[in-house]
Amino acid sequence: MTGEWLTAWDRSAGAHSAAELFRSRFGAEPDGVWSAPGRVNLIGEHTDYNGGLCLPIDLPHRTYVALRRRDDDVLRLVSEREHAMWTGTTDQVHPGAHLGWAAYAAGVAWAVNESADPAPATGADATGDVRATSDTHPAPGTRPTPGTRVAGFDAAVASCVPYGAGLSSSAALESAVAVALDDVCDLGLGDSDAGRAVLAAACVRAENEIAGAPTGGMDQSSSLRAQPGHALLLDTRDGTVRHVPFDLSAHGLALLVIDTRAEHQLADGQYANRRATCEAAAARLGHATLREVGAGAELEAALALLAEPGDADAETTIRRVRHVATEIARVEDFVALLDAGRVAEVGPLMDASHASLRDDYEVSCAELDLAVSVARANGALGARMTGGGFGGSAIALVEADGVERIASAIADAFGAAGFTSPVFLVADASAPADRDTA
Ligand code: GLA
Repeated sequence: MTGEWLTAWDRSAGAHSAAELFRSRFGAEPDGVWSAPGRVNLIGEHTDYNGGLCLPIDLPHRTYVALRRRDDDVLRLVSEREHAMWTGTTDQVHPGAHLGWAAYAAGVAWAVNESADPAPATGADATGDVRATSDTHPAPGTRPTPGTRVAGFDAAVASCVPYGAGLSSSAALESAVAVALDDVCDLGLGDSDAGRAVLAAACVRAENEIAGAPTGGMDQSSSLRAQPGHALLLDTRDGTVRHVPFDLSAHGLALLVIDTRAEHQLADGQYANRRATCEAAAARLGHATLREVGAGAELEAALALLAEPGDADAETTIRRVRHVATEIARVEDFVALLDAGRVAEVGPLMDASHASLRDDYEVSCAELDLAVSVARANGALGARMTGGGFGGSAIALVEADGVERIASAIADAFGAAGFTSPVFLVADASAPADRDTA
């Protein structure tokens, strides 16, 4: 096959790698191995922090974590990717600490402990922040038993989720650690969707508050709550999910993922800047989130309220809001087509999503635009950037027998443009985070 292809590891081989790494670096047996997938979003981009809809599937590519619980507060982390062992204690894990990659593992333990602590009856916690009082009465199985503490652990990480490709390698690590801690600490959350939603929320806190990336939560929900053979329709307004059948091979189709190798970075200012613009616009419109803006005439009325002739910032805000509102509507239309068994007709929605992300939201880049246009010119039914943008990956919906031809056209175009060679993978809707047998 032309171009470089990234095949997912066989699960037993991945679990074996992590367990072997654990044995060689810690000289002991792990309690077990757990793994979690990266994700690719079909449509619904930059909607998750706006109370909107998104539609990811889990990749067959997973991050494997061999873990052993400790009785003290020591944390020791090793990864195939980093030579040095990260060593610390649980009290070193707090917002503002600079932990590097360890934040994505150690931060989950911190967040689980935070969510297990009962909120004070006064409504204010130790930092003075007010918490929702409803937090003191969670439904059974939706929070770790109050007082549960995750102490220290040793963990070894091996992964075939490409790093920096916009395919959620960080959420895969967080989610694998979350299900591991759930198991070894008997948190009782991993067996139900409600419990997994709590684990996903802990992973989001780890990413937002410990790793310092202000991301929205789609990735962790996908990694923990999606189902094989299905796309996950996530409504971020209330956290509810619906599993929408998504079996491309039954329709003679395939989803080609193109990792452009243009590295993206979510902890930098661009992502935070888009999020802040949306939140400020929602506040100006008197809404909790941009989800409330709606579509059609409602959207036009909202955009008119935001308009200030001659003000470049207002013009930018209008384009950002238009992207979010129209993208949420595209998710609804996409799901309606899937529900009607008309998956081959979703291409134009993917194309429109890409144009909106490129022109209105301004998060695409030359490599993503080239991958998308070459895919389409070579017969893809639709193509778009996926994930946060500013680099990372694009997806193309293609006839199954066109996968290699389209990939090779993209590889050639990248060569001609002087871009780094892309890496390709084929995405089938795969399984969420779970325990493996090593
Ligand atoms: C990144 C973030 C997600 C989401 C997407 C854009 O993947 O982690 O929360 O905001 O970007 O849709």
